[in-house]
Amino acid sequence: MHELKSDLGTGPELYRALTRELAALLEGERDLIANAANCAALLYHSLNDVNWVGFYFLRDGELVVGPFQGKPACVRIALGKGVCGMAALERQTQLVPDVHAFAGHIACDPASRSEIVVPLIRRGELLGVLDIDSPRTGRFTETDRAGIEALAREFLARLDGA
Ligand code: SME
Repeated sequence: MHELKSDLGTGPELYRALTRELAALLEGERDLIANAANCAALLYHSLNDVNWVGFYFLRDGELVVGPFQGKPACVRIALGKGVCGMAALERQTQLVPDVHAFAGHIACDPASRSEIVVPLIRRGELLGVLDIDSPRTGRFTETDRAGIEALAREFLARLDGA
């Protein structure tokens, strides 16, 4: 089935493989919750040193937690608040090497040390964000940013059956 915790290292080849796996996992299914749940599970079990992987979706002007893997999380985040709210407001990936140095970081799991949040933009509209936390400071590199942004594009393309 899926090659979880593969030997593909941490570079672009890992993300190319994960993007292919995600495409296969979501093939033929457009349901947002089902696809988000499988995406979170794939990444949580494939990436090293992560303690939370999941989605927040925009609902009536604020972010509401969606499918995730990890400890229970805060449910609602206002746009502009925390790393997630900033990624949503600015529509830009937020790569935070040290969450304690990010003013306004929302500590859901106190074990988190670094975090990356990618906005999900569907047909020009903000759908939500994909959030990944690590217990290791400086866990996420520019390679991770490019890889996770590619995964987010794959996730969005599948929702439209592309
Ligand atoms: N740390 C995030 C909140 C969500 S949790 O990490 C799951 C933030 O500052 O937006």
